[in-house]
Amino acid sequence: MVWQLNSYTWHKREKVVYFDSIFSMISFVMPEETKKQPTIDDIISLCKRRGFVFQSSEIYGGFAAVYDYGPYGVELANNIKQAWWKAMVQMREDIVGLDASIFMSPKVWEASGHVSGFSDPMAECKQCQTRSRVDHLLETAGITADEKMSEEEINALLTEHMAEVRCPKCGQSDFSEAKNFNLLVQSNLGDFTDKGEDPVYLRGETCQGIYVNYRNVMSSSRVKIPFGVAQIGKAFRNEITARQFIFRTREFEQMEMQYFTHPEQEMEEYEKLREARWQYYIDLGIKPENLQWHKHENLVFYAKEAYDIEYNFSFGWKELEGVHARGDYDLTQHAKASGQDLNYTDGKTNETFVPHIVESSVGVGRTMLMVLTDAYTEEEVGDGSRVVLKLHKSLVPIQVAVFPLLRNKPDLVAKAHGVFDQLKEDFRCEFDDNGNVGKRYRRQDEIGTPYCVTVDFESLEDGMVTVRDRDTMEQERVAITDLNSYFADKL
Ligand code: GAP
Repeated sequence: MVWQLNSYTWHKREKVVYFDSIFSMISFVMPEETKKQPTIDDIISLCKRRGFVFQSSEIYGGFAAVYDYGPYGVELANNIKQAWWKAMVQMREDIVGLDASIFMSPKVWEASGHVSGFSDPMAECKQCQTRSRVDHLLETAGITADEKMSEEEINALLTEHMAEVRCPKCGQSDFSEAKNFNLLVQSNLGDFTDKGEDPVYLRGETCQGIYVNYRNVMSSSRVKIPFGVAQIGKAFRNEITARQFIFRTREFEQMEMQYFTHPEQEMEEYEKLREARWQYYIDLGIKPENLQWHKHENLVFYAKEAYDIEYNFSFGWKELEGVHARGDYDLTQHAKASGQDLNYTDGKTNETFVPHIVESSVGVGRTMLMVLTDAYTEEEVGDGSRVVLKLHKSLVPIQVAVFPLLRNKPDLVAKAHGVFDQLKEDFRCEFDDNGNVGKRYRRQDEIGTPYCVTVDFESLEDGMVTVRDRDTMEQERVAITDLNSYFADKL
């Protein structure tokens, strides 16, 4: 047996173990979870430290409510979208995909009701001029504001409870009158007059692109009612208050699926969709105790029923996804405004009707915040603690990290590059030779890498490497020739 303290290696003929740190050699304990729920600051700090999320335009002091995804963030976001697309399109015979443009005719937003009614009530703190959403202010005082309330009604509530609501910035209870503020973001696309009289909007939700393409999809593909159209894409909203990191941003991506049904099938399909969406999160490994249904009490006028799947974020239970029964509102509005026939005629029964729609709608960034929060774990590992992201294996940015034991030994480095090349076709891999093995393990733990492979001197002789498991921290020797099938079984 040989001890190599510099690389924290305990070396026996048949077994090589790379300790997570020098202290782990003294007390070799299984990891033990220490903290249940991370704070939002824990998540923000991890995201910045490990390159998941950066503030937009940071070198210019940042740009409010807009974020950029770094090297691991973009991988995680792509995996989130891929998991959603697989569940919502690839695994379904009755759902097809679409990618509509961000810009649409402004008439779309007039017909949908967004130009006149897509607004939030805003009030300004008279002391520090911070603008806040009045329904959010009232919520902090335990008062629920009705989505349908008029400006007068919301102002009456604000006046009644003025002493109970506080400015989130300065803590004073002194607000201006509430005004409805429209959330649509305008642009001058195609307007060369410099007057901005005919604004074109950046879409406020992706589903409008689905409604206006419903007839195209039907006439060009095999679908028959009931069927769904799914889309992932950017949406933009002039959110009044932008706190809570990537939970609520002004530019974000939505994953939406609109399911077109016979009017009498709407509620049955709605229940099926609710069940499927709940199961989706359970299958992604989200802790069921952190999920709950919330039924909307005050529905927008066209909706039959609406539920949110809420997640227990570090700032409370908040909407993760909406599952809504929208009735025939959307197609009726677009048929009226465009003058086009958007009815459906059943080929078998000859019945003609306006399809009713049930939808599932969730944000990519909000899902990312949820999976990061759910996976974030602090554990005692003998030498103090480690942060480990116990992400579902389908979501991890990197599936296998490959290390040479020492970066200054060309034979080891070349062999490790060979292992990386062998694995990279099948798995998302990363080559890492920074610092010692213990530090590399910590880094990979923090980005959720389920397996680390170390190439050492023994590997040069016996063609075997050490594979270390993220969750158990256990290690085993595996033949390099078997690695692809080994990981194919595990990932
Ligand atoms: N088509 C229905 C619709 O857009 P919504 O409740 O306004 O409904 C659906 O939004 C989902 O989109 C939300 O549950 C959330 O996941 C995400 N979302 C909405 N606004 C967002 C924002 N400002 N930032 C991040 N995600 C947002």
